[in-house]
Amino acid sequence: MKIQEKITVTVALTLFFVIFITAFSFTQLFLVNNRNVRLFNLAEQNNKLTEYISSTYSEPQKAIDFLTGSDYLKRFEDIAGVEIIIADTDMNILINSLNLENEDFKNLLLSSKEIKSFLNVTDLLTISGRQESGKLIMADIKNNRYYISIKEFPVKDKNYLSIFLKKQTELALPPVRYTIEMLLIFVLAGLISIITGLVLGKNISTPIMRLNRSVGRISNGDYSENIRAMGKDEIGILARNVNIMKNKIQRSQESLKDFTYMLSHEIKNMITSINGYAVGITEGVYSTEEEINEALDIIKNKSKDLENITESLLMLSKIENRIIEISKEEVNFEKMINDLLKLYEPELGRNRLKIKKTFAIMPETKLFSDKYLIQTVISNLINNAIKYSNTESEIIINSISDDESVIISVSNSGLNITEDERDKIYNMFYRSKKYEFKNIKGFGLGLAISRRIAGILGADLDFDSKENINTFIFKIPLNR
Ligand SMILES: Nc1ncnc2c1ncn2[C@@H]1O[C@H](COP(=O)(O)OP(=O)(O)OP(=O)(O)O)[C@@H](O)[C@H]1O
Ligand SMILES: [Mg+2]
Repeated sequence: MKIQEKITVTVALTLFFVIFITAFSFTQLFLVNNRNVRLFNLAEQNNKLTEYISSTYSEPQKAIDFLTGSDYLKRFEDIAGVEIIIADTDMNILINSLNLENEDFKNLLLSSKEIKSFLNVTDLLTISGRQESGKLIMADIKNNRYYISIKEFPVKDKNYLSIFLKKQTELALPPVRYTIEMLLIFVLAGLISIITGLVLGKNISTPIMRLNRSVGRISNGDYSENIRAMGKDEIGILARNVNIMKNKIQRSQESLKDFTYMLSHEIKNMITSINGYAVGITEGVYSTEEEINEALDIIKNKSKDLENITESLLMLSKIENRIIEISKEEVNFEKMINDLLKLYEPELGRNRLKIKKTFAIMPETKLFSDKYLIQTVISNLINNAIKYSNTESEIIINSISDDESVIISVSNSGLNITEDERDKIYNMFYRSKKYEFKNIKGFGLGLAISRRIAGILGADLDFDSKENINTFIFKIPLNR
């Protein structure tokens, strides 16, 4: 079943039951109310009779004579559709149109089946007052159920009872009489439910289906279209999130393409160059010893470059695939930095650079971490500082510690790193164009690797660049 059909069926069924049951309850309530209005009428008729007798006759016997001697009661019964019994308060029947046995009559008067309780429910709908109703009861007499109004009334100083009885069949609710109405409600509820279900089903499922088609396109590698964001509901949010996901996949695919292109380009250049010089030597292009040595030097340098880039790539791949193993041992920063600087001595000398270093790590500060990874980051920072320094300038290396971390900063003077380069310099293969004329070697991998290592160690790598001074700050937490 498709989602649209599911929604339509669910909505239609639920709505159908709700409408049908509500309508059914309301009709029932109105019917009960209708019955009660009729009961009040019964009491009202009774009132009319008793008031007439009370106000017209001061002698009880005269009243009885009148009632039995004329067709007044008969007419009353015909008009109101009731049976009438008149009795005195000692339960002696004076007029008995239903021919009720004495025993039945007593039971009737003592009956406690008053109808007050369900009159209460419909008082809300019925405006009739109840004070004048007298006593309203229900009783079974000779296999018939009667609704009965009992009213006490005075003639002179004696009280009498006037009892109006109406067969229940006339007041009850034969359901068959309402079949047409029920059928109508049934059909109407069905129609409303199906239409609403269809409209809602279409409304809800259209965006989902549109989303579905768009995700299908994305999974086939078509990133050309953004999904139209629809509203602020969950589907709208999902659409926006799918758009974000799509853009990320697209970007990462593009950068993967760039990465592969640049990498193969770099490696091809190096191999072409190594191959070119090697062929030159074997085919005797270089004849003098000096020429051959020069060619061999170039081959050596290019091979070293090839080794470096392969090492960097290996490192990156290990980091990306999370197969790097972190060992923990105490790191001696002073020794580590001094050893690194020894390695860089030739380059420092070539560029006539001076190193100024301070070690202010508290003696009680002990950092247990991966020496090799930390050394890789610091080495990259020193290497960059040397490459991007103005000649004959000073590189400042500071090591300090606080309660939470060890902070190593490496500063050099040179061209500032601009704000728009802030994040780019950590991208793989990003190299600023401004050094192109200086022929500084590099692949744009040093900071990319360093940033990722910092991430692994839970450390921070950031920089500050102003007034021709670039300072890279590497902050390693102690308790990791
Ligand atoms: N100390 C620095 N001063 C000025 N610019 C810097 C400094 N360090 C990095 N950069 C800028 O950031 C870019 C990226 O540096 P990164 O170390 O990642 O690559 P690279 O040095 O060019 O090559 P690699 O490190 O792979 O040999 C550099 O090309 C340069 O533009
Ligand atoms: Mg570098």
